Amino acid sequence: MLAGKRILLIFGGGIAAFKSLDLIRRLRDRGAAVVPVLTRAAEEFVTPLSASALSAQKVYRDLFDLTDEAEMGHIELSRAADLVVVAPCTADLMAKMAGGHANDLATTVLMATDKRVLIAPAMNVRMWQHPATQRNLAALRGDGILTVGPDEGAMACGEFGPGRMAEVPEIVAAAQAALMDGPLKGRHVVVTSGPTHEPIDPVRYIANRSSGAQGTAVARALAALGARVTFVTGPAEVPPPEGVAVIRVETARQMLDAVRAALPADAAVFAAAVADWRMAEDQPQKIKKTAGALPVLEFAENPDILASVAQMGSGRPGLVVGFAAETEAVRNNAAAKRARKGCDWIVANDVSPETGIMGGTENAVTLITDAGAEDWPRMGKGDVANRLAARIAEALG
Ligand code: C5P
Repeated sequence: MLAGKRILLIFGGGIAAFKSLDLIRRLRDRGAAVVPVLTRAAEEFVTPLSASALSAQKVYRDLFDLTDEAEMGHIELSRAADLVVVAPCTADLMAKMAGGHANDLATTVLMATDKRVLIAPAMNVRMWQHPATQRNLAALRGDGILTVGPDEGAMACGEFGPGRMAEVPEIVAAAQAALMDGPLKGRHVVVTSGPTHEPIDPVRYIANRSSGAQGTAVARALAALGARVTFVTGPAEVPPPEGVAVIRVETARQMLDAVRAALPADAAVFAAAVADWRMAEDQPQKIKKTAGALPVLEFAENPDILASVAQMGSGRPGLVVGFAAETEAVRNNAAAKRARKGCDWIVANDVSPETGIMGGTENAVTLITDAGAEDWPRMGKGDVANRLAARIAEALG
């Protein structure tokens, strides 16, 4: 099942490192080639000799090993793999990864790689629950790093709780899932999602009721087909999916900047409910309540992110998909919107209150393309996303 795959297995310095020797065997049983990288601390728990014997590979340990650099530099080492697995991933390694450190071979490889990275955290329960570790975990997930475990149970240190490294079969399954060759492998897709918040003054803002559910489902479905997804999200209720790079923004203008910075992309899906207007002037102080006088808010138009990307000359993604939430004449309005904005496809839906779609779990959409309009039956937002992701994969060939 993993035949022909090359996995770079980084051992962090923790007692669970002994389990990773077994992980080498289990991955090899499934046909993968496993190249071990040991940190200095890992060598306190397992020997390079055992890692080398079990993997039947040279073990990499030192960034400044000139022989290694002559044979295979650290950049090449990180790129030659199909997947990088860090097991056990200690609190210290997580902190270094989250902070972008590159002061030994393992951290340098992790910074240099262009492949997916899967970490299996392992540490004492208090270290796992420490706000610093949880902050680092959130940052790593936001960078698109995949995680497996930790499990809950009795630990080597005598305490009980979450922090124990995931069992080897769990890590193998996660590695297999991360290596799945979907039809969108090697493709980059940008997805916008959620509402935007436009400040009125430092304490008040304009918002809308978008939960981010549909955009999140689209990003998850695209990632499941193997795409590298950059997920640009406003302040949404629904948490972002795992395994995608998350860029958090507040305003429409920040969203546009983040989308531009994420390009080039093979496709872009604009599922965000972007505020149409913002305040004409920045208001650095809280607007005071004055007796007998109501404030007058002056608006300016926000940039249309979909239209500006759809109408860009060079660097335009090959496929640009917009959403259209309508309450009447759905097909006609959406078709007109597609033409006006210059996007390739519009996913139109009826958000009249009686449909229960806005904020609900289901959606009934019409896909409008060059070929005409296609009504899809009412289905879960996850199913709409899967179907749309499959169509995108088909269109990108
Ligand atoms: O014009 P309307 O808001 O109905 O268009 C909806 C589509 O346009 C959605 O795909 C939405 O994400 C996108 N949009 C945008 N920037 C805006 C307004 C809408 O990208 N300022």
